[in-house]
Amino acid sequence: MRKLATMLFAATLSLSLAAGARAGERIGVSMPTQSLQRWNQDGANMKTLLEAAGYSVDLLYAGDNDIPTQVNQIENMISTGCKVLVIAAIDGTSLTRVLDVAKQNGISVIAYDRLIMNSDAVSYYATFDNFKVGTTQGGFIEAKLNLKTAAGPFNIELFTGDPGDNNVNFFFGGAMSILKPYIDSGKLVVPSRQTTQSQCSTVNWNTEESQKRMENLVSAYGYGPNGTKLDAVLSSNDSVANGVTNALIGAGFRKGNFPVLTGQDCDKPSMKNILAGTQSMSVFKDTRTLAKQVVKMVDAIVKGQKVDINDTTTYDNGTGIIPSFLCDPVICTIDNYKELLIDSGYYTEADLR
Ligand code: BGC
Repeated sequence: MRKLATMLFAATLSLSLAAGARAGERIGVSMPTQSLQRWNQDGANMKTLLEAAGYSVDLLYAGDNDIPTQVNQIENMISTGCKVLVIAAIDGTSLTRVLDVAKQNGISVIAYDRLIMNSDAVSYYATFDNFKVGTTQGGFIEAKLNLKTAAGPFNIELFTGDPGDNNVNFFFGGAMSILKPYIDSGKLVVPSRQTTQSQCSTVNWNTEESQKRMENLVSAYGYGPNGTKLDAVLSSNDSVANGVTNALIGAGFRKGNFPVLTGQDCDKPSMKNILAGTQSMSVFKDTRTLAKQVVKMVDAIVKGQKVDINDTTTYDNGTGIIPSFLCDPVICTIDNYKELLIDSGYYTEADLR
């Protein structure tokens, strides 16, 4: 039944696609949610650059991380004749069927930021070096707690992102490649003993979820400035770090005694927390750079030119290695945010007040 529906859908599409191809170059951009700052920037940057390059753009957001909505929107992009699809998947494993249809219709697919799994329709992947994001966070905690030389032990709790996001394997994996030897030796102690990726995950990277989990940990283990000491919290991104921050402030921690807390994205609320002395760092992934790279990829695909990639070994989506372009993530702290974010025009000082 499902197969028949797919075939009918594919046949209808072939007809409409022929018309679409004649009409010109339409590019579909499918983003997961507007509730997080970065995806709004990613989408807007790509739309502006693609339009400037002469393309027409279908930019759609899948409600608030709604998987069926994303699938429907991609179906529509296929039927309206998009020539290339740029997709930041909500769940890396839910797009196999719809992308089969894209492939049957000769549409190229670029996985944007997050790898799309189990689909041989994915032509390219453009992202930041996700493992390096994790090692940057783990390395920051290692340096701040002076783990190489201090005697310890230090208490830490671990938070990562959505289990359906393939990036989490790299963020958490990268961070744990640095932290796990210290956990194994006992220099770092995780009082909750929640150390597996699934125990540390946060559905949809949701701030309320991470706040709830941190509040539960505070009640169970008595963390507080006058209670059980908490030296660090690993958080894979800013939306999760914000929930952790809320819970830790609720537990009485303030600037000066706040645990070392990591993040990623340099979202405005997190940058404000960094300036206020609560969150310790974030990882800057300049969405302008990624969008520019993807627009170059799209243009090369449409024109039948060689596509610029710089990694052919790291990202296997279950059907083989996907040729990738990895941009460089950069550590951001109170010491370098001016140069990184203000001087580069990413934010104004007023944005962070
Ligand atoms: C992205 C992060 C983002 C997270 C939540 C990840 O796949 O790489 O930049 O913070 O999703 O949206």
